[in-house]
Amino acid sequence: MATTVYVLNGPNLNLLGTREPEIYGRATLKDVEALCRDAGQRHGFEIVFHQSNHEGALVDWIQEARRKAAGIVINPAAYTHTSVAILDALLASDLPVIEVHISNVHAREPFRRHSYISPAARAVICGFGVNGYVLAIDGLAAMLASSKG
Ligand code: DQA
Repeated sequence: MATTVYVLNGPNLNLLGTREPEIYGRATLKDVEALCRDAGQRHGFEIVFHQSNHEGALVDWIQEARRKAAGIVINPAAYTHTSVAILDALLASDLPVIEVHISNVHAREPFRRHSYISPAARAVICGFGVNGYVLAIDGLAAMLASSKG
């Protein structure tokens, strides 16, 4: 059975491509999904890819991943800076979690420097643009391979 990896995206990431392109670039969420599926294929992962503007939907998918997946890649978007609910869901999942941000959140407004999510993350990637998702999947693959060994 293929290893399943959930790639979850928070609010406003459905607008990628047209949303503040000087910060987030021109790639659309469909492009990001294609990048993730390519990276997943290289590692033999089945990628489950979702985006929602609603905190509860993200919590539900994390709870689903807890039963079905070997790891989670998540860009919680603005919920990064607000959501104890997403932190708690990720902690409960007991899965390796990679937190991704397209932009370098540390070079932006001060409120973006704090993440409620990072305590649940095995690694954090930011500032590589949408390629950060590929780096996250590659990194997760290395983690899963070394934990098997
Ligand atoms: C983001 C950074 C967040 O601060 C912001 O709210 C987002 C996107 C990023 O990918 O750079 O929506 O997570």
